[in-house]
Amino acid sequence: MSRLIVISNRVSRPGTGGNQGGLAVALSDALRESRGIWFGWSGNVTDQFSGHIGFSEDEGVKTATIDLEEQDIDEYYNGYANKTLWPLFHFRIDLAEYARDFEGGYNRVNQRFADTASPLIEPEDVVWIHDYHLIPLGDMLRKRGLNNRMGFFLHIPWPPTRLLVSLPHHTKLVQTMFAYDVVGFHTEEWLESFRHYVEREMGGTVDGDFITLGDRTIQAVACPIGINAQEFSEAATSDTAQDMHHRLRASLQDRAMIVGVDRLDYSKGLEERFNGYARFLKDHPEHHRKVLLTQIAPPSREDVESYQQIRATLDSLAGRLNGEYSDVDWTPIRYVNQGYPRDKLAGIYRSAKIGLVTPLRDGMNLVAKEYVAAQDPQDPGVLILSRFAGAALQLKDALLINPYSPEEMSDAILRALTMPLDERKKRWRAMMDSVEGQDINWWRTCFVGRLMISQDEPAAPVEPEPTEG
Ligand code: G6P
Repeated sequence: MSRLIVISNRVSRPGTGGNQGGLAVALSDALRESRGIWFGWSGNVTDQFSGHIGFSEDEGVKTATIDLEEQDIDEYYNGYANKTLWPLFHFRIDLAEYARDFEGGYNRVNQRFADTASPLIEPEDVVWIHDYHLIPLGDMLRKRGLNNRMGFFLHIPWPPTRLLVSLPHHTKLVQTMFAYDVVGFHTEEWLESFRHYVEREMGGTVDGDFITLGDRTIQAVACPIGINAQEFSEAATSDTAQDMHHRLRASLQDRAMIVGVDRLDYSKGLEERFNGYARFLKDHPEHHRKVLLTQIAPPSREDVESYQQIRATLDSLAGRLNGEYSDVDWTPIRYVNQGYPRDKLAGIYRSAKIGLVTPLRDGMNLVAKEYVAAQDPQDPGVLILSRFAGAALQLKDALLINPYSPEEMSDAILRALTMPLDERKKRWRAMMDSVEGQDINWWRTCFVGRLMISQDEPAAPVEPEPTEG
């Protein structure tokens, strides 16, 4: 088996604290099996970039990280990645900022990644680069003479062509993606938008999974990411989860809890969610005191102004709603700005009658899948899911709503609260089949299976078999 070299902005070291998400676990397994390396930014700042690489090995996973200068972090991470690409790719051109310094910093940091990572890569290695922070990295590695199989996976939406053209030098950026052998997206929708852009703006030609531009043909595929469903279901009945469940039940008494869990990001539609819930409270006074919303929202990207704004907006909205509807012994919203480790989270999901996952736009959204996996099969809760989350294409048995419509949200909450057990079970089973069938290992095989095909074999599309757990 070829060694896998994973490169991403953030690196997660197993067993070193922090919350190892599903992606980190899946990548760690693949790295362990292939004796590979995970390369990325350490998260630390240095006065002057030296290219020094910090190596570690935790639970059989080797990591290699570099420190970045403050200016790098400002222009590359806070700037081009999170003020330009993130809002634009989430269809928010109103929030996207275009500045030459950002673009310059983004290219400089990608060059720094290329300079420091390339000496670690051996000829037989397979390189897998992740997400919008590192789009041009493959091209930069090729320019340093690397002929390895190289793949790129985008974890966020690909925007419609009409929006993408608002990015200065958009063609130049997309051109760099033709340095990869395989490019992956979470859904057909994002893949279609990518194909459309390449055909319309660049004169590329599409033939099934293959796209040709000039003398380069790449494979572009949709592989929806999943979770480790089996592990997550087990986590939901762990001692920690049960403690959390008892703690919550004691505080809820007989009230039905609705839960939302999101990074504090404007793309998650939290303001719209609070407004939808407010609409429900206004329309259904008979449900006052019988229901409450627990919104968990750990702060994120706090140096970026649009994130400071959404935080301030939510603080005031939650305060206003609680002021308007609370009684001495009931508060309609519990708004919590901290994150929880997996087992506790699984207990929280299992205690909630409704999972409210209503992003305005989301590449996939794994919270929706985690909510499903954590449910009690004998008494499952109901998932209310935004049509605009990638997950909606798989979880068709959720109550699918338009997150911009407070009325739809209010109606869906009422329907979920009053849904008969038989219907809840039927919907949950169908969703769980999808969550279990296309889990995190299936996803990895879906993408890496294509990437591992050696260059002299025809790179025919492989339909991966769903794998267990
Ligand atoms: C999204 C992105 C990831 C990113 C994560 C957390 O899921 O697709 O690449 O790591 O958000 O954001 P942060 O800026 O904290 O890394």
